[in-house]
Amino acid sequence: MTPSVDEQTAAQKLFSPARLGAVELENRLVMAPLTRIRADEDGVPTEAMVSYYAQRASLGMIVTEGTFPVGEGRTWIGQPGIETDAQIAGWRRVADAVHAAGGTIVMQIMHGGRIGHRLVSTTGRVTAPSALAAPGQIRTPEGKDEHPVPHALTTEEVAETVAQFAAAARRAIAAGMDGVQVHGANGYLLHEFTAPSTNTRTDQYGGSPENRARLSVEVAAAVAEAIGADRTGIRLSPQHNIQGALEEDADDALTTYRALAEGLAPLGLAHVDVLHAEPAGELVQTIRRTSGAPLIANTGFSVQTTREEAVSLVAEDVAEAVGVGRSAIANPDLARRWELDAAENAPVPETFYVGGERGYTDYPTLEATAETGQN
Ligand SMILES: Cc1cc2nc3c(=O)[nH]c(=O)nc-3n(C[C@H](O)[C@H](O)[C@H](O)COP(=O)(O)O)c2cc1C
Repeated sequence: MTPSVDEQTAAQKLFSPARLGAVELENRLVMAPLTRIRADEDGVPTEAMVSYYAQRASLGMIVTEGTFPVGEGRTWIGQPGIETDAQIAGWRRVADAVHAAGGTIVMQIMHGGRIGHRLVSTTGRVTAPSALAAPGQIRTPEGKDEHPVPHALTTEEVAETVAQFAAAARRAIAAGMDGVQVHGANGYLLHEFTAPSTNTRTDQYGGSPENRARLSVEVAAAVAEAIGADRTGIRLSPQHNIQGALEEDADDALTTYRALAEGLAPLGLAHVDVLHAEPAGELVQTIRRTSGAPLIANTGFSVQTTREEAVSLVAEDVAEAVGVGRSAIANPDLARRWELDAAENAPVPETFYVGGERGYTDYPTLEATAETGQN
């Protein structure tokens, strides 16, 4: 069926350039941060990672997988870091390859907090706002184990965490990244401070919505100070209710994220990336309006992002750009496929978190599919 003129105009906006702070995007499709567990056991990016990210350079901006700022914040073996010289050198190869292919790339800096294990943390310690274990189990080099009861960071140690994020951001820029995205989402360290179920602190980082939002704001401010606000973004997932980081009281969530966005507002960040099922709703639009930062919308895990949804989010000015996860895993040339409204490869979840090239760098492009006649 030939698309109507209205549909064509709506789609054009998704494929038009945008600026997120200092980063110039050729189109408004952002590769969402996606953990793939293909670094080596020292957290050094591998050659397969260089190919994988370079293959996806036609998306307007790539956000890397969650990358640990310090080994104590490592959640999985095979996760990359940005702490050592070898890790910086590995990421330099990734950034250079993406730039050579005409793309842009920012690094998601992720401290795992209580989603960790003493056999994975390089200090043997797992930290969090409060000494509360996450539900469920975690993969360790010796098989699955219960999540540990974490060490509750002291107020002084919280200040060290802020400095660790800033130092990691400087190293990301030294590795050639176009910017950094602070991971404040999905039940990891910063989100554990924001969510009331994971934070029972009584110092200035616990209790009131402003206090719970404080660490994310301080980290964003320190990173912005270190590398420039126009290269700094943050990811949030209000009411995602994952990994025991629960925000089930809607009024409290709105107040907390408004406080967080008010704290971000004076910084002038490059983007806020919000994972939420209703990007047009009050919560997400309050964050957007209050922070004043361009919004990358991602509708979350329950349904895979579609072309149609991405087109309408941008055409209807719900967001400046759209984060795409699983379709970007399965389609190295997703921008082209969506521009042509062509068929997509389906992602293979069994290969998401295992090592190797299968299900990583071997998804075919449209041309390769046409040649083999497969889809
Ligand atoms: C394999 C996989 C790994 C992910 N890793 C991360 C991550 O490292 N950091 C993060 O913020 N979100 C992560 N996510 C969430 C995605 O960024 C995204 O929000 C989610 O996949 C929903 O978008 P989609 O429907 O377009 O896939 C991950 C999702 C998947 C499927």
